[in-house]
Amino acid sequence: MSEFIHNHYQQIAGIFEDLWFYSEDFVQFITNKIIEHLSLKNTDILIDLGCGTGIYAKEINNQMQLHNPIICVDSSNKMLEQIPNNIKYKCIEMDAIEFSALSGTYNKIIIKELIHHINELELLLGNLFQSLTNGGILLLILLPPTIDYPLFSTALRKYEEFQPNYNNLASLLAKIGFHVAVDFVEYHERNSQV
Ligand SMILES: C[S@@+](CC[C@H](N)C(=O)[O-])C[C@H]1O[C@@H](n2cnc3c(N)ncnc32)[C@H](O)[C@@H]1O
Repeated sequence: MSEFIHNHYQQIAGIFEDLWFYSEDFVQFITNKIIEHLSLKNTDILIDLGCGTGIYAKEINNQMQLHNPIICVDSSNKMLEQIPNNIKYKCIEMDAIEFSALSGTYNKIIIKELIHHINELELLLGNLFQSLTNGGILLLILLPPTIDYPLFSTALRKYEEFQPNYNNLASLLAKIGFHVAVDFVEYHERNSQV
């Protein structure tokens, strides 16, 4: 993996949730969608690949009593350090491709906002396909190819240059052997004025 990306997350780990947590309501909303789209059951073995500080793993554990720890994989030890050290999580500091190549069997995988960092997509997704049990589900979550965030135009162009298109990912997943479904989730920010 790129040293630049690794250093970036090492440096921002302490403030990652200040930047990306948004609000309790947002995290609960997205987590509900994750649980629904994964058809998550108490007995599932769930991998959170590129889990970061575990914002969504922690909220899944708030909403459900899983029988197994969530396996949280990330290449940044400083991001993983933000995850509670208890039996609800098993943290693994490892590159996603390296992890996917290990022998292991699990039935649910979430990859949220990691995929734009991966160059060897076919290798990663192919390895994960092999490790998933029959009927297992991989949930890939990413932002759309264009965004209308209030950023300066160079930043928006850079984003568009690097953000993978979900259509290409859907084709690749189908080629590997996955049954693919695409869904769009919108969250409407509510502003209050005093
Ligand atoms: C944008 S954050 C997303 C974190 C989390 N999934 C979320 O939605 O809050 C991307 C995460 O992927 C991790 N990451 C980047 N490249 C990786 C790789 N090749 N293998 C494993 N983790 C990686 C980073 O350290 C970072 O924690």
